[in-house]
Amino acid sequence: MIIALGCDHAALALKDAVREHLSELGHEVKDFGIYKDGEKCDYPDKAAEVGHALQKGEAALGILICGTGVGMSIAANKLRGIRACCCSDVFSAKMCRLHNNANILTFGERVVGRGLALELVDAFLSSEFEGGRHARRVDLITALEEE
Ligand code: RB5
Repeated sequence: MIIALGCDHAALALKDAVREHLSELGHEVKDFGIYKDGEKCDYPDKAAEVGHALQKGEAALGILICGTGVGMSIAANKLRGIRACCCSDVFSAKMCRLHNNANILTFGERVVGRGLALELVDAFLSSEFEGGRHARRVDLITALEEE
């Protein structure tokens, strides 16, 4: 799977750990940075870069990491077709794929440790949207984009 990955300066170490994990699993990672200690970025800009990659079909799913994961999810959810979920438990990371067809997972380096973060990633990537009754509800979410 092609995964778009991004972080701000609060989450560089965890982003790099996630990138390594994804590569070990055999995924192709499009790493949108940041890349170096001392580099700064505003999380809405990084959320937009990763969200735009999904919109253009350049990646199937995205992962965004900031201090809390919250800012990244708020920003990414402003983009059409993006359903970003901020998760710090494995159940939600799985259910947001199964029921909500989430296409971006966000979490916070200041909230979750490396071990939990990688479990969130595994749960998110290994779960598929169930469709059925959930599809109608996701369509209702999409319709809100027209308001
Ligand atoms: C940066 O200090 C911090 O505000 C950001 O990483 C994130 O937690 C925002 O939601």
